[in-house]
Amino acid sequence: MRLWHNPASPFARKVRIVARETGLLPRIQEISVMVSPVNPNADLAVHNPLVKIPALQTDDGKVLYDSSVICEYLDSLHTGAHIIPSDTMRWDALRLQSLCDGMLDAAVLCRYEMAVRPEKSRWDDWVKGQFTKIRNGLDALATEAPAWSGRFGIGQIAAACVLGYLDFRFADENWREPRPPLAKWYEEVRQRNSFVSTIPA
Ligand code: BEZ
Repeated sequence: MRLWHNPASPFARKVRIVARETGLLPRIQEISVMVSPVNPNADLAVHNPLVKIPALQTDDGKVLYDSSVICEYLDSLHTGAHIIPSDTMRWDALRLQSLCDGMLDAAVLCRYEMAVRPEKSRWDDWVKGQFTKIRNGLDALATEAPAWSGRFGIGQIAAACVLGYLDFRFADENWREPRPPLAKWYEEVRQRNSFVSTIPA
C-alpha cells in the first residue's frame, strides 16, 4: 500500500499511528508530499480530487481518503485487537474521533490563517472563534480522559494527535495547566513507540 502524508499533518499522523499500532506498517510505503491550499500537489491530485492528505492506495489500486476512512480500512485488515470497537463502545469511539477531528480542522485552519494568509487579510475574530472550539473540545477531553486508562483506540489516538499538534504549532497555548487529567494522560501516551516515531517535523 502507499500512504501519501506530510509529517506535519495531524490527520496523517492519526493514520500513521494506526498503521504502527496494528502492525501493518511493513506493508505500507509512506510518501511525504508538500500540500498547501494555494499550491496543490499535482501528483496527489491524480489520486485524490480534493488534493488532501492523508490518502491511501490499497493493494488492489483503490485510493481511500479521508483519515477516518483509512483508519477504518486498516483496522479491517488485521487480526489483532481492534482500534475501532464493533460492540456498543463503537459509537463512543467514533464520536470521540469526530470531536478530535473537528478540533484538528479548527487548529489547521488557524495555522493557515496565521502562517499563510497575507497579514493584511487576517481575520482575528474568526481565529478567536476557532480557538473557542478548540478550548471547549479540550475541556470535554479533560472530562473524559480519566475513563481512558489502558485504552488506545481510535478516539484516544485522535486525542493524542490533537495535543501533539497544539504543542507543535501553538506552543503558547497553555492547554495543560487548566486541565491536569488530560495533561497526566498525555504524559503517558506520548511515550508510545507509535507516537514517538511520528513526531511532526
Ligand atoms: C502544518 O504544517 O501545520 C500542516 C501541514 C499539512 C497539513 C496540515 C497541517
